[in-house]
Amino acid sequence: MSKIFKPLTLRSVTLKNRIVMAPMLMYTGQEDGTVNDLHLAHYGARALGGVGLITSEVVAVAPQGRISHTDLGLWEDAQIEGLARLSKMIRTCGAKSSLQLAHAGRKSSVEGEIVAASAIAYSDIHRTPAQLTTDEIKEIVRAYARATERARKTGFDCLEIHAAHGYLIHGFLSPLTNQRSDEYGGNEENRNRLLIEIVTAVREIWPQDKPLIVRLSAEDKAGTGGNTVDVTTRLCASLKALGVDLLGISAGGLTPTFDGEIFPGYLVPYASHVRKELNMPVGCNGSITSSELIESILHSGSSDVVYVGRELLRNPFWLLDVAKAAGVELPLAIPTYARATGPYVRGH
Ligand SMILES: Cc1cc2nc3c(=O)[nH]c(=O)nc-3n(C[C@H](O)[C@H](O)[C@H](O)COP(=O)(O)O)c2cc1C
Repeated sequence: MSKIFKPLTLRSVTLKNRIVMAPMLMYTGQEDGTVNDLHLAHYGARALGGVGLITSEVVAVAPQGRISHTDLGLWEDAQIEGLARLSKMIRTCGAKSSLQLAHAGRKSSVEGEIVAASAIAYSDIHRTPAQLTTDEIKEIVRAYARATERARKTGFDCLEIHAAHGYLIHGFLSPLTNQRSDEYGGNEENRNRLLIEIVTAVREIWPQDKPLIVRLSAEDKAGTGGNTVDVTTRLCASLKALGVDLLGISAGGLTPTFDGEIFPGYLVPYASHVRKELNMPVGCNGSITSSELIESILHSGSSDVVYVGRELLRNPFWLLDVAKAAGVELPLAIPTYARATGPYVRGH
């Protein structure tokens, strides 16, 4: 019995299956941070391909929070319309949509000053960020709140806060990149404060009937002294209490190297640990491409959904192949496609 195609309901949103398209920055945008035709075609193809939940690439809450000058943004009202068009198009193609809000912190490559928890560069070829002042941190929390107000108007079904992979929020969470001595640095509670404040502000604004997702790196995987899955699980308990509905459990990204082996499903144990400790929905990711592996992840209770990234870049219709192999008949967003799978009927 396939679990991949079993629906999952989070608040008022029902995903038709357990496959989430992982957020992936496509570098196809332009300086104004608005959606263009390539975004529509790219996400539309994956929605037609049967994916249950399409996550957008990073959407920056501030211009200096972009990873690159090609990122999408929600720092001004003019950016709402294109994202609204994108969410409508994803819905029309039969999928649910999730918008990923982010601030790149020290991993930003945009011109001008870049900012982070502490003045520590990501690598030898990256610029050293300016350490944010306490007032500037509070302004970033307000930027997330304002972006969420705008996200409400885009019609996206879910909102995801990117707190993983070494971007601004993760940089605060980890003792390796946060050397502050104010209330945003030092002990675990202080390092978690920025994310807790953002999630508190966002959950108040994001509609109560819509799910809120947080993506985290369960472990820093950047040498000794970094956060471990036990530290992250304690943070996840606080996020659950604040009304987060799903945790996307990833790892690493804090530094250019990954301290561990990479193989299909290598991050699953972290997601499984958090799910079992907290009894809340989680998603895993990491080089997962086979339906057998996904079924075993879902059946063993290691995750509730599986984020699939690069496999969906290679083949937007990968899930249709998986369904066919499993003998599952999916409702087609364009019913005429069935004419290509049934007996040939002449007439055109
Ligand atoms: C081209 C590319 C862009 C990415 N951009 C993002 C992003 O915008 N936000 C994010 O959280 N992760 C991003 N990631 C990480 C993916 O979401 C995912 O975690 C990673 O690709 C591993 O999953 P996979 O092995 O299924 O591809 C990106 C990955 C790739 C390959």
